[in-house]
Parts: sequence; structure tokens; C-alpha cells
Amino acid sequence: ADDEGGRGIGRGGSDTAAPMSAESQDPNLEIALAHGSSLIVNALGPPPQHMIDRCNELGVKTGALAGKAQHAERHVNAGVDFIIAQGSEAGGHTGEIGTMVLIPEIVDAVGDTPVLGAGGIGHGRQMAAAMALGASGVWCGSVWLTTDEAETHPVVKDKFLAASSSDTIRSRSRTGKHARQLKSAWTDEWENPETPMPLGMPMQMVLTGEAIMRIDRAAHNAGSGAEALSNYFVGQIVGTMNESKPAARVVMEMVEEFIDAVESLGRQLEV
Ligand SMILES: Cc1cc2nc3c(=O)[nH]c(=O)nc-3n(C[C@H](O)[C@H](O)[C@H](O)COP(=O)(O)O)c2cc1C
Repeated sequence: ADDEGGRGIGRGGSDTAAPMSAESQDPNLEIALAHGSSLIVNALGPPPQHMIDRCNELGVKTGALAGKAQHAERHVNAGVDFIIAQGSEAGGHTGEIGTMVLIPEIVDAVGDTPVLGAGGIGHGRQMAAAMALGASGVWCGSVWLTTDEAETHPVVKDKFLAASSSDTIRSRSRTGKHARQLKSAWTDEWENPETPMPLGMPMQMVLTGEAIMRIDRAAHNAGSGAEALSNYFVGQIVGTMNESKPAARVVMEMVEEFIDAVESLGRQLEV
């Protein structure tokens, strides 16, 4: 499911279906498949059966994000090929259980189904930790947002580069469901007990989609005031995203640090 959208409603998806609904994503699935995607991943619930069937028909693997062991069991019963165990540290829609606790719980719950670890993974040591907890690999989101190739809004990218790991919040203010993002004047106002609570999903997106688009547009003009409001989904790993670099360098550094971490653990077993 895509979290961002034209008019705040599933970009590239149906204009008539409710935002974030399965129906709104049917056109996106067909576009992804037409581009030869080799895997399709779903969040916020098990993938609808017709989407799994469509992917199976074409030999495309399916996965789903889980923030609890029960979610993972539901995804396996729905027929996905692999699970992404995404801990609370993650950017975007995320639950309350930390990655360290979640990965082994999910690994133990789903038997032979491969599990990727996610949430707070941006370096090789974190990758080694996830794999030590039983993950078959890792799944990263936030760390790409400050790469040279990222399409992150320039104002938001600068905020990410300067932010610490304490500067994110799980807020319902963008979509109606808890999603980790950078703290900003926008999240501060929605957190203020004297202002109305966010609506649920999808109504909060209907309410705020247009405003968020305008804020992002205005934030390109220095001094507009919109810079203070602009933010985006990002996880706690933002605290170590301090330099814009090519995505290839992120990958190489992660692999090198992973090897060092595993070798160093191996040395601890030497007698
Ligand atoms: C900007 C942003 C947008 C995201 N949008 C989606 C999405 O539309 N669908 C989805 O399944 N996961 C989405 N995620 C979650 C990622 O797939 C991934 O699980 C998460 O980023 C991993 O944690 P990390 O941010 O600590 O790397 C998003 C994450 C970020 C940072």
C-alpha cells in the first residue's frame, strides 16, 4: 500500500475507492506487475486473497509487514511467501513492539516461512543483530531517504540529516493510524491536548491530504513558514543518517560492517 498520494488519496490508484483500501490499490498492483516486479509486499493487514492469487498466477512472491506475532500468523494463513517483522523503531506505520523483541517472537511463530527483520536497521551491526535473532535478511526503509538518489523534499532531507534518534514521533496526524515521522510544528499541534484528535484512517487522510500537499509546495520557498510544518515518515535510525550519500555506498558500508560484526562475534567463541 502506498502511503502518499495525489489529493492525499493513494497516488496512482483508484480515485473513487476509499484511501488505503484494497480496491484503491488494485491499479497500483497492476502497474507494479506490468513493470516486472519480482515481489509484492503489503502492509496494514494481510494482502487480499485476489492480490495473492494474481501474484501466484505470475510467479511473483508476496510478503507482508507484521508488528505482532498474531499479524504474522494471519499473513502466513493468507498464503504469503515471507514475513517482514517490523519493530516500532521503523519509519511509517508501525506498532509498539521493538525490533529486538519482535523478530524472535515472529520467527518462532511462523515456522519455515522466511522472516526479514525491519525497524531501526541502517547499519551492518543492526543487520547482524537481526540475523542473530533469526531473521533470514533485513528490510530497510528510512536509510534510503537521505541518499543522493532519494526524492525526499529538500527541506525535509535537511531536517533528517540534522535530527537525532529522539526527534521522531508515532503520530496519527498524517493518516489516522500511528505512523512514525519527524516531529514538526504539524505533529506538535496535533499532539496538543487542546486541539481536536486526529480522525481515523481514511478520514484523516481526506482531511489533511490537500493541506500536506500545499505545505510541501510552499516549503520550497524559504521564509514561507511552511518549512516548520513539513515533515515525513522516518524511523529512529534518522539519528545516524547524517550525510547524503549514494545508495550503493549505504549498501556497501552495511555489508562491510555486517562482516566485521559477525567476525568479531566469531572471535568471541575462540578459545
Ligand atoms: C517514508 C516511508 C514510507 C513507507 N511506506 C510504506 C508503504 O507504503 N508500505 C509499506 O509496506 N511500508 C512502508 N514503509 C515501511 C517500510 O517498508 C519499512 O518496513 C520500514 O521503513 C523499516 O524500518 P526503518 O524505517 O527503520 O528502516 C515506509 C517507510 C518509510 C520510511
